[in-house]
Amino acid sequence: MAGGPYDGQIYFDVRPQYPSEWYSMLSALTPRRALAWDVGTGNGQAAVGCRDRPWQRSFVMEISFVRSHCWVREDTRRFMIKCLWNNIFTLFQIAEHYDSVIATDISEGQLEHGIPHPQIRYLHTPDSLSEEELVAMVGGENSVDLVVVATAIHWFDIPKFYSVVNRVLRKPGGLIAIWGYSDIIGVNPELDALQIRYRESAMPYWRPGVKYIFEEYRNLPFPFKSVGLGEEGQPLKLSMKREMNFERFLDVMRSSSAVGAAKEKGVNLLTEEVVQEFKKAWGAPAPDMVRAVTYNVFMIAGKLKE
Ligand SMILES: C[S@@+](CC[C@H](N)C(=O)[O-])C[C@H]1O[C@@H](n2cnc3c(N)ncnc32)[C@H](O)[C@@H]1O
Repeated sequence: MAGGPYDGQIYFDVRPQYPSEWYSMLSALTPRRALAWDVGTGNGQAAVGCRDRPWQRSFVMEISFVRSHCWVREDTRRFMIKCLWNNIFTLFQIAEHYDSVIATDISEGQLEHGIPHPQIRYLHTPDSLSEEELVAMVGGENSVDLVVVATAIHWFDIPKFYSVVNRVLRKPGGLIAIWGYSDIIGVNPELDALQIRYRESAMPYWRPGVKYIFEEYRNLPFPFKSVGLGEEGQPLKLSMKREMNFERFLDVMRSSSAVGAAKEKGVNLLTEEVVQEFKKAWGAPAPDMVRAVTYNVFMIAGKLKE
């Protein structure tokens, strides 16, 4: 199916982008900054490399307002929101660390909601592509300065993927950075424990590779040379702070592949009973009350071994 288990619209609406400092940190390690490849890009969450600035947060609130109050048709409204994103990104000149970014995904449904940006080219990479075709599509041998995989490697055929990475990374100097996040933590221990219980009940609907995420990449094969940002067996721990109300927290849960995969089998993982349990654990006196939350992130970056 074109969209896979993700609902591209929900994913676009709720999944986080990543701190600008990470891109500064990574780009400082690549002598050339011509081309970056974001693999399993989703809607370009890592490709845009945008900054979490106050103006951006208020802009997101305005978008939410447009979304809920604007009288125009739903598809027109979505288009307007995309154009707003596009303009704001162009105006503030973000994602400027690399001259261009190739952002690829197996899901056309995710790419349809790709965040527009003048320097990002979104490309569909179906599983049927041969290694030769994929290498050529990305830019050819020895062409990519930075490969980024943001919370997606658990989906890949990892040895096959690393073989492509070995070919496309620029020699010398190319860098691969892989990061991921799992639960939203920091609200209270009750919510943390409930998420672990929920995760287990959803196990039949996760991809087997999701174990790498749940193990926070401690067992992820990573046959690259350390650059001081984590290494095989010892990922770097990072975090991202955000604010959200309960409805948004639920939407983040709704955006997971397990919920999508279960839905395809006629199973609703987020039944009213489960939602009520989460609501109780969230514990906000008013449903709209915003809470500070943390995404725990684990990252490993490295260069080709000589
Ligand atoms: C959890 S999402 C991560 C999206 C985005 N990178 C982010 O940071 O939010 C995983 C993405 O990997 C994509 N994906 C799964 N298998 C893939 C494959 N073999 N090649 C490319 N993308 C793939 C999915 O369609 C999905 O968009």
